[in-house]
Amino acid sequence: MRRASPLLVLFAVACGDVAVSPKARAEADVIWADRCANCHGPKGLGDGPGARVLPVRPRVLSDSAWQASVSDDHIATVITEGGQVVGLDANMAANPDLKAKPDVLRALVLKVRSLKP
Ligand code: HEC
Repeated sequence: MRRASPLLVLFAVACGDVAVSPKARAEADVIWADRCANCHGPKGLGDGPGARVLPVRPRVLSDSAWQASVSDDHIATVITEGGQVVGLDANMAANPDLKAKPDVLRALVLKVRSLKP
């Protein structure tokens, strides 16, 4: 079988048509707890212990105005490429390994989308 090109995969992630299995969701939950909650806090309020020392505090990700202002593609780019690429603070680190796991990346975007105040 021919492997999908990275561009096609990114396009599919952007369009949201990557199938998200329960396994991918479970992996995204673990990644959120292990890699993200330290700064963003378990509910994305920007109140994780690691956030205290940051020069730029992470925004409240559950904020509905912010949620409405960004695309899934933007969120996926911030996660894989880091904040600097989209003009945000570099302390938002890149997670390049997730480019090889489009289903897990998609599940992580949905995790961010599911954060409620
Ligand atoms: C070392 C602390 C830190 C970690 C760990 C971290 N982030 Fe961030 N993140 C930030 C900061 C700081 C910002 C805000 C940057 C700014 O507003 O300039 C941010 C911003 C964001 C944004 C908002 C982008 C926007 O448009 O405002 C999203 C979404 C995000 N992070 C998701 C994640 C996810 C998912 C993970 C785990 C894979 C993660 N972050 C891990 C510090 C962190």
